Amino acid sequence: MSLTTFNPVPAATAASSSATSPSPIERNAAAGQAAAKVTVLTLQEKKSLGTPITCLTAYDYASARLVDEAGLDVVLVGDSLAMVMQGHESTLPITMDEMLLYTRGVRRAVRRAMLVADMPFGSYQADDREGVANAIRFVKEAGAEGVKIEGGRSRVALVSRLVDAEIPVMGHLGLTPQSVHRMGGYKVQGKTLTAMEGLIKDAAALEQAGCFSIVLEGIPREVARMITAEVRIPTIGIGAGPDCDGQILVMHDLLNMTFSPAAKFVRRYADVAQVMRAALAEYKLDVEARTFPSEAESYHLPKETQVALEEIGVGANRRKT
Ligand code: KIV
Repeated sequence: MSLTTFNPVPAATAASSSATSPSPIERNAAAGQAAAKVTVLTLQEKKSLGTPITCLTAYDYASARLVDEAGLDVVLVGDSLAMVMQGHESTLPITMDEMLLYTRGVRRAVRRAMLVADMPFGSYQADDREGVANAIRFVKEAGAEGVKIEGGRSRVALVSRLVDAEIPVMGHLGLTPQSVHRMGGYKVQGKTLTAMEGLIKDAAALEQAGCFSIVLEGIPREVARMITAEVRIPTIGIGAGPDCDGQILVMHDLLNMTFSPAAKFVRRYADVAQVMRAALAEYKLDVEARTFPSEAESYHLPKETQVALEEIGVGANRRKT
């Protein structure tokens, strides 16, 4: 059990320390407090205004809360959690029930950002009816405000049915991890003229079918730029260069909480693994040296109970040997 809770960022903290130049944390906290709930309309407006859309994955309450408080636009409960949270070698094994469980935790944390849930492999490929039923579970049982599915023209019928069911759909093109076996590994896509043309047609088809945005993963910058110019809905890049309407990363990549070398497109904004290693080593040493917990970190009997104990002759300070 933890009695430690996250309190809302107090306004004073958000505005504090440096009178001259606020830190990124202070700027984000202030902006996040002021900003309105992000919806599909916000994202569309950002594309129209040329304002970059900020997205990140999150899989649990604490980290999702930090992402939301940092003022990012979209929190994606990505099926990448199969790899970074569960240690699988691909995204393929994760189930609907597992995705729902993680999404519910994130839902409790996210107030302002738009919450999108990834539909796992097998939850929509076999049958459109089943795909719609599973997407409805994300909205109804886990509070998602949209779902993401991988694939292009082959998903048009499903996207239309989801939109008819009032569920916003984020498409996902390029290096689609659920197609790892068909692609023969995690390889950059869209490198030939034919492949490029295919991706552009896929993006147009997804827009036409009613997607509110499209993730472009692992494709050349030039192709992402063309698609972004071609479609009216926002494109969100990951390994697709800087010309997309927004960017997304996997949180564990951004924070260095993975156990393999980073892909070319990943920027490590912090070394959380190193911070954790140092903290864990110190904790272990403190416990072994009996310097944790200290007197100040211990609860004490109230005075009257101590007196009562002494009266019956049991010393409260007596140590069991
Ligand atoms: O599963 C995931 O995290 C994703 C993002 C990388 C876009 O699909």
